Amino acid sequence: MNLNQKAAPIQIALDGTPASGKSTVGTMLADRLACDFLDTGLMYRAMTYLALENSLSLDDSDALGVLAEATSFSVHQGPESSWRLMVNDRDISNRLHSEDINRDVSQVAAVPQVRRALVRKQREIASQRSTVMAGQDIGTVVLVNAPVKIYLNASVATRAARRTRDTSGNSEGHRYEVVLSSIKRRSEFDTNRVDSALRPADDAIVIATDDLTADEVVEKVLSYISTKLNRTGNLGMTGKRTA
Ligand code: C5P
Repeated sequence: MNLNQKAAPIQIALDGTPASGKSTVGTMLADRLACDFLDTGLMYRAMTYLALENSLSLDDSDALGVLAEATSFSVHQGPESSWRLMVNDRDISNRLHSEDINRDVSQVAAVPQVRRALVRKQREIASQRSTVMAGQDIGTVVLVNAPVKIYLNASVATRAARRTRDTSGNSEGHRYEVVLSSIKRRSEFDTNRVDSALRPADDAIVIATDDLTADEVVEKVLSYISTKLNRTGNLGMTGKRTA
């Protein structure tokens, strides 16, 4: 299926709880749909990184908003279908999952001025090319008219176990208990945020991924997308990108 063969960009909203597999599934989906992938969580993480780098107070909403407005973002495809987010033309991807960022990102993401700026930038990116956009408010706020909305969830224990496994052996690796408490705290904070709280859109399909592999989730989603777009014959279901 090649979404970029369509006359106008098609947007897939992929929301879910922290560490529910959005970026794994989103990257695989973008590959199968031959479209772009944007992980908006990285944008909030990047704002947190820049705020800490510039020694901004996380209570100074106006300063955080000005910083968000002034920051530029673009997505680029890396090797083996990976996607890189460039922040002010810098690739800081491997600094965005540190314990400091995990601790502070939900606070930064709750600032309305930051959300306003980032939502505008996310819509701009989505208007240019067909995109799978992962986040927490894509279906409810950013792309309310997206023709396909997916919401991934899993128990907090499953999410923590997967994140521990996926990061073990690299510099982001932490013990299960540390990961569990960080994910729990973020999930609670994000769900209770006043502005754009984490929740599934009314028209989203909710998929519990506890007992599914990433491949199984992707197949489920692809079948939902083809039904939803009702264009299977037109787009084909061959998989890999051709461009
Ligand atoms: O997806 P990830 O867990 O990397 O997101 C990090 C944090 O960014 C979330 O816990 C949430 O606070 C914030 N976020 C958000 N809205 C989005 C994406 C992420 O508030 N669309």
